[in-house]
Amino acid sequence: MQPREIRDGIYYVGAIDWDRRMFDALIPLPDGTSYNSYLIKGSEKTALLDTVDPSMEHVLMDSLDQLGIKHLDYIIAHHAEQDHSGSIPQVLKKYPEAKVICTPKCKTILIDLLVIPEEKFITVSDKETISLGDKNIEFIHAPWVHWPETMLTYLKEDRILFSCDFLGSHQATTDLYVCDRGQTYEAAKRYYAEIMMPFRAQIQKNLDKVSHYDTDIIAPSHGPLHDQPEFILEAYHEWAFGEPKNIVVLPYISMHNSTRKMVEYLVSALSRRGVSVKQFDLSATDIGKLAMALVDAATIVIGTPTILAGPHPNVAYATILANALRPNLKFASVIGSYSWGGKTVEQLTSMIPSLKVELLEPVLIKGLPGKADFEALEKLAENIANKHKEQCFI
Ligand code: FEO
Repeated sequence: MQPREIRDGIYYVGAIDWDRRMFDALIPLPDGTSYNSYLIKGSEKTALLDTVDPSMEHVLMDSLDQLGIKHLDYIIAHHAEQDHSGSIPQVLKKYPEAKVICTPKCKTILIDLLVIPEEKFITVSDKETISLGDKNIEFIHAPWVHWPETMLTYLKEDRILFSCDFLGSHQATTDLYVCDRGQTYEAAKRYYAEIMMPFRAQIQKNLDKVSHYDTDIIAPSHGPLHDQPEFILEAYHEWAFGEPKNIVVLPYISMHNSTRKMVEYLVSALSRRGVSVKQFDLSATDIGKLAMALVDAATIVIGTPTILAGPHPNVAYATILANALRPNLKFASVIGSYSWGGKTVEQLTSMIPSLKVELLEPVLIKGLPGKADFEALEKLAENIANKHKEQCFI
């Protein structure tokens, strides 16, 4: 991979990971990802902004060699997570004169995770600046996008905001800038849903913070750069500030078709009432797609059989994940079938303490659904549609 010049003296020196399919042993990466690292050569000093995942350290080192970098003054670490910081120890070996610039919190985490000696650090406060000669960098503390130590940087002369994970997307592409807006919107929404949504209130504050900077380019730590920043800022604004829509998300598992029949009936009953439904069979679901659906939904209905006195383990997993992602849901319910008993509803509702939802009357039935059960599902659909109308989601 050749380094790519963004502006005079500013280079992309990151790595594109076409083949990675899982992140944090949790998040599917259908489109791969990139670890964006940037080099800024000022008239007096040179700074590297983040490194790359250690698995692709050789790509970064090769780019620095191709640019003929013999001396490095600073490594700016926006974020301590290893997909960006993991190659700092190797860069420090190559450039022992370099200092690591980060927030005080990031310093402690980098010492814990990467055992970098304390004397290598310079910590910076919010709005502090450093000069590289003809280029000046401002540090913008941005906690909880998505770790507590994160910061962004703003290169004043070139009006470039280096936004770290914030406003990024997991995408492997040779396009330096966003070319296919549809593809990037999907990837960025998936990224927001999986990584940023739990910190919606902080995202709102940080969106407000960056709106005060006159920005020509947003350069995130993953995915293509934004040379039309309003595209990603408007999308984030919609996801972070938007009200829930007239949508029910319905993740479910069925073992012997009873729960599936209930799901099919409820989906039909809701759509007859003008409510959109996104149905996910958890035995085959891409968890990222489920997370994206939760960004906009007003209601979640969880469908599960009863197994060993509780919900199916795949359903428990999805429920715990939905709780952790803290979407802006307003209502929840449970439907499903059992053969002899259990505490399915109690167990599931105990798994969603972070969801500020009103629980609508669940429909748990014995065996195959019959007439009275379909009537109960009809009532649940009516209840959901009325709640959505009352809240003006319809
Ligand atoms: Fe891309 Fe939070 O690391």
